[in-house]
Amino acid sequence: MIMIPIAQPILDNKEKENIIEVLDSGMLAEGEFVRRFEEAFCTFLNAEHGVATNSGTAGLHVALKAAGIEKGDRVVTTPFSFIATTNALLYCGARPVFVDIKEESYNIDPEKLEQKLKAEPDIKALLIVHLFGRPCSMDRIMELVDKYNLILIEDCAQAHGASFQGKKVGTFGRAAVFSFYPTKNMTTAEGGIVVTGDRDLKKRVESLIRHGSTYKYYHEILGYNYRMNNLEAALGVAQIEKLEKFNRKRRANAAFLNEHLRELDWLQTPKEDADRSHVYHLYTVSLKENSRDKFADYLKESGIGCGIYYPLPVYRQPLYKERGYGNISLPVVEKTAQKVISLPVHPALTKSELRKIVECVRNFKNSQ
Ligand SMILES: Cc1ncc(COP(=O)(O)O)c(C=O)c1O
Repeated sequence: MIMIPIAQPILDNKEKENIIEVLDSGMLAEGEFVRRFEEAFCTFLNAEHGVATNSGTAGLHVALKAAGIEKGDRVVTTPFSFIATTNALLYCGARPVFVDIKEESYNIDPEKLEQKLKAEPDIKALLIVHLFGRPCSMDRIMELVDKYNLILIEDCAQAHGASFQGKKVGTFGRAAVFSFYPTKNMTTAEGGIVVTGDRDLKKRVESLIRHGSTYKYYHEILGYNYRMNNLEAALGVAQIEKLEKFNRKRRANAAFLNEHLRELDWLQTPKEDADRSHVYHLYTVSLKENSRDKFADYLKESGIGCGIYYPLPVYRQPLYKERGYGNISLPVVEKTAQKVISLPVHPALTKSELRKIVECVRNFKNSQ
C-alpha cells in the first residue's frame, strides 16, 4: 500500500539548476547564494536583517544569546513545542519558565502569561512559538511585552508567511527564527535564519555563527560554526519564490479538510480566526474521546501518514525532569498532549489523496 506522507517537500528544476550552479562554481561553503537567500527571505518577510544558519536550533541559540539572554535568566515559554525551542534556552544557561497553552489554539495563553508575569517580576524575556503555523495573539502579547518590559523572541520554525492583522510573524519581536528542515513550509534541507530589525543584534549573530569573529581569524568572543552553506541556500533561493504558492495550497487543503470534517462530533478541527492567517505547517485535530491510539493505528493501516505533535509537554521529558521540572503540571497542555493528532495537509497532496483522507477519517467510527 502506498502511504500518503505527513510531509513532503516539492523540489523541481529551479532547485536542481541552482544546485548545479553551486557545484560547478566549486564554492560549496557559505557564499553568494547565502547572501541572495538572506535578502530574498527578508524581502518576503518585510524584515530588515537576516542571517542564515545551519539549522533553526542554531538560529534560536544565537538569537537568544545576541538578544542578551544569559546564564540564570528566566525566560517564559510554552511547554507545547518541539524540544529545540526550550533546549536553546538551556544552551544559554537560561531557566525556562513554562506557561500553559490555550486549548483551541495550542499557543501560549496570554491571560495565564500575564498572571505569571505579575507574580514573577524577574522574568526577562518571552520566547513564543507560532505552533503548527498559527500566529499567537500578537495584540495581547505585544501589550504584555511593553507592560512588563520583556525581550521578545519569536520561534517561527513552523510559521513561514503566517500573519497577524496583516503583519508577518517574525517581525514582532527583537529577533525571530525560522527553520528550513524538509518537513517545513519551505526547505533548504537543514537550515535556519535569524531575522531582526536591530542592526547590532544582527552583527552579534553574524559573529556568533563564525566562531566569534568579525575579521577572519580574529576571534573576540566564544562563537560556533553555525553557518549555512551555498548548497542549502541554493535550495532556499528557489523555494522562497514558491512559498506563497505552497502556503495558498496548504490553506486550501486545510479548508477542504475543515469543510468535510467539521461536523464530526468526536473530533475538533483547527481554529480559524479572521484576524490572522494560519499557514498550516500541520493540520492538527483534537479527539474528544480517548481514542487517539486506535485512530492513529487505523490511519496508518489505511495508508494515511499521521503524527503526534507532541506526545509530552516539554517539562515531562526526562531531560527536563532531571533539571527540576518534574513537579510541574499544567492542565491544558497535559490534556492536549493526549488528544492531538496531525493529518497530511502539505502542498503536494492531490485532490484524490485529500478525498481519501476525508473518507477514511469519516469512516473511523464505523470501522470500530
Ligand atoms: C517549533 C520549532 N522550533 C525549532 C525547531 C528547530 O529547527 P531545526 O530542526 O531546523 O533545528 C523546529 C523544527 O524542527 C520547530 O518545529
